[in-house]
Amino acid sequence: MSKTKIVVIGVGAVGSTTAYTLLLRERTDELVLIDANENKAIGDAIDMNHGLPFLGKTKVWAGTYEDCRGANIIIITAGTAQKPGESRTDLLKRNISIFEGVMDEVMKYNTDGILLIASNPVDIMSYFSWKKSQWPVNRIIGSGTLLDSARFRYLIGERLHIDSRSVHAHIIGEHGDSELPLWSLANVAGTPIDISDEDKEEIFTNTRDAAYQIINAKGATYYAIALALDRICTAILRDEGSVLNVSTMLQNYHGVSDVYMGVPCIVDAQGVREVLNLDISEHERELLHRSANKLKELITSISM
Ligand code: LAC
Repeated sequence: MSKTKIVVIGVGAVGSTTAYTLLLRERTDELVLIDANENKAIGDAIDMNHGLPFLGKTKVWAGTYEDCRGANIIIITAGTAQKPGESRTDLLKRNISIFEGVMDEVMKYNTDGILLIASNPVDIMSYFSWKKSQWPVNRIIGSGTLLDSARFRYLIGERLHIDSRSVHAHIIGEHGDSELPLWSLANVAGTPIDISDEDKEEIFTNTRDAAYQIINAKGATYYAIALALDRICTAILRDEGSVLNVSTMLQNYHGVSDVYMGVPCIVDAQGVREVLNLDISEHERELLHRSANKLKELITSISM
């Protein structure tokens, strides 16, 4: 049986925590760490290898872009992260220039893997990666609103005193300030969520603004996004066909086209196998278009 390989490009807080999560869960046979700061990648690899006696047989090393050859999944977390007071879209121009170089290198050595983008603004960075690589859309995936939906489910679960794994609720659209909650479809065992409009507003606001709160408190977010990226890798490597709110290219999705956004997708070994067209309310459709228009303006602003 051929060995699985995951490459993590960018081992800052998100990349390093993602690599460690993949290691703890023994997700892959080979785990390659790449960073412009080579010493960071080397140090992380040594530190993780020293934990193998407590784990299993994952081969971890600090590599070069040539190690992208044959990788099943290439996770890109490279780029600058939000600082207190910054929005995700404030990172756009800096991260596009970083991605130019990263994608040039990746494309030299890998043509048939799956790109999993986490760098923000993730929907634009995913669109850029697709545009530059011209890889099939299904193999260019952004982390999207999977993390936002997890936050949403957690906060609803806390309010209802129900395990968040039993709360089914979606945040879709931009992974950012224009994201939107699908309250019309939120449910527990098929039963609509019965809470006040005030509670709904508070839960959504806390979901949407969670990253700002965490960044103000500790400088960055990394644990939950690492788990979200691990979840996507699992769906791919196990060919699960799981429904995950990843960022993908939308075409005539409730009238939205030519933009990457987070929506429920079926994820399997091919990447995004199918986009689920949910039966959303007219108000939710309007918010979806507002989110799409914001992202398309950003795409135009960097004339991609
Ligand atoms: C967050 C980062 C991953 O929402 O954008 O925590």
